[in-house]
Amino acid sequence: MSNNPNINIFLDPNYKSSFTALNEPFEDLSQSDSSLESNSRSNLQNIVILDFGSQYSELIARRVRELKVYSEVLSHNISVEKLRLLCPQGIILSGGPASVYEKGSPDIDPEIFELGIPILGICYGMQITVLTMGGKVAPIHLGGGEYGKAKLFLDSTDGIFSGLENSLMTWMSHGDSVLTLPDGFQIIAHTARTPIAAIANEEKKIYGVQFHPEVVHSEKGMEILANFVYRIANCKAEWTTGQFLNNSINEVKETVGEGKVLLALSGGVDSSALAFLLNKAIGKQLTCMFIDQGFMRLNEPEKLLQVFREQFKIPVIYVNAKERFLNKVKGITDPEHKRKLIGEEFIRVFEEESTKLGPIAFLAQGTLYPDIIESAGANYDRQKPGEKIAVKIKSHHNVGGLPENMKFKLLEPFRKLFKDEVRRVARELGVPTRITKRHPFPGPGLAIRIIGEITEERLNILRMADYIAREEIDEAGLYDSVWQIFAVLLADIKSVGVMGDKRTYASPIVIRAIKSEDGMTADWAHLPYEVLEKISTRIINEVAGINRVVYDITSKPPGTIEWE
Ligand code: XMP
Repeated sequence: MSNNPNINIFLDPNYKSSFTALNEPFEDLSQSDSSLESNSRSNLQNIVILDFGSQYSELIARRVRELKVYSEVLSHNISVEKLRLLCPQGIILSGGPASVYEKGSPDIDPEIFELGIPILGICYGMQITVLTMGGKVAPIHLGGGEYGKAKLFLDSTDGIFSGLENSLMTWMSHGDSVLTLPDGFQIIAHTARTPIAAIANEEKKIYGVQFHPEVVHSEKGMEILANFVYRIANCKAEWTTGQFLNNSINEVKETVGEGKVLLALSGGVDSSALAFLLNKAIGKQLTCMFIDQGFMRLNEPEKLLQVFREQFKIPVIYVNAKERFLNKVKGITDPEHKRKLIGEEFIRVFEEESTKLGPIAFLAQGTLYPDIIESAGANYDRQKPGEKIAVKIKSHHNVGGLPENMKFKLLEPFRKLFKDEVRRVARELGVPTRITKRHPFPGPGLAIRIIGEITEERLNILRMADYIAREEIDEAGLYDSVWQIFAVLLADIKSVGVMGDKRTYASPIVIRAIKSEDGMTADWAHLPYEVLEKISTRIINEVAGINRVVYDITSKPPGTIEWE
């Protein structure tokens, strides 16, 4: 066995990438490692979001980061000792679906309120604050709750409401409300239905709001969060892409040492930015590998190789695994099964190919924070098994689909970044705009856009339809105005049509175009009818096997962006 520590790491199945620990100042605290206090990254000013199961917890983190302050989502049941080690400047308690007075509902270590760290409770977060500190919470008088927009009347324009007018429109979603306040608190806002809609304990710097300042429907929501972050928690706006890059490059160097890194390049913004970052950090120790699983879009593999090899002079190994993947998913129709098989096969191919390259210690991936969140992974790994409170939506290719017996250690410098943050990082690294602006494309590719079994013929049909949709939106100058446009093939559904006086009986193509800030929520894009018409006409005329085109007008939620 080699003395190279990275190779030993490679052989140790229990080893956890030290990069993960370095890049995520909060990750390893479950081990109560007091040396973390001296970790240079603990100097990073941060706001901790404690999650009580809200769909909006990550949105709160994004909002705080938009204020240029680092923020992470952690489980509500973090202990006071662990929290103290993180040195947060402020704590935000999220909303949640439960009722605080219900048995078994998520609670909080009461000592957290005694730390002297400013706290802002949102919705459930406010109610748990009240309950824990000695007040009362009950179902709303006469039942029914308060959902949607509600006019908020401010009884104070200090603290979190500094600089605001006396009333503003807010967004509410609660069936319970605060009945009596704990000692030291006062009411700072009310609505027609909720007499205690915001509270403050100025002395302890503990605040609560019944509405959701993080959602765009709440007027002045960002001002309220900014007041908490800057005025109450005294944070400075200093978490920038430049700072992230410097830290990441140093951490990659430190973690990787002399070891070799293999990068799964897909050509999207995440893995391209990662290639640039790693190239900058470790140069020749990096090997980029592009695995063609056969689920890519039209001409994409060829273009990718040309851009990286010829234009950027970054060497890329091309692996043609099309047949292998197609065989793997033969006969499979269940979406989760498809995702798992593709994810596993992907890693296996990497493992096999890597052995041809000599010892490789790390596999680099452009995994993002939303991938982790939606797979209900990292946020809750400090909890006991079975305590996950976020509901798993789908296994994202780069996380949930990974087999547990992987030989590589993962290097995921972007795993705590949102998409818009990666785009900024990419720009800073000099990644060309045609890549930074490329619409996101899922790891399993077209395979999860064929509803039904995947065959080569179906892939070709989908590829052409997808190409036409993207070409037409580009032609109309609308490419940058949507988050994503793509086609989905409803392969097992057939409908009757008429073409050239003949009856047809063929499959429909769904066009999905959406607008989104981060892929976590999305609205369907209101594309001009003329553009939709052109897409439809071209697909029917140019793609054999399709006789109908439909447009998906579902937002997320309730739909997800991809169909599988
Ligand atoms: P959903 O379908 O979960 O998609 O609403 C949210 C965003 O993520 C992309 N997506 C993926 N990206 N691996 C990825 O790298 C995946 O397995 C995956 N699945 C979905 C999707 O295209 C959208 O932008």
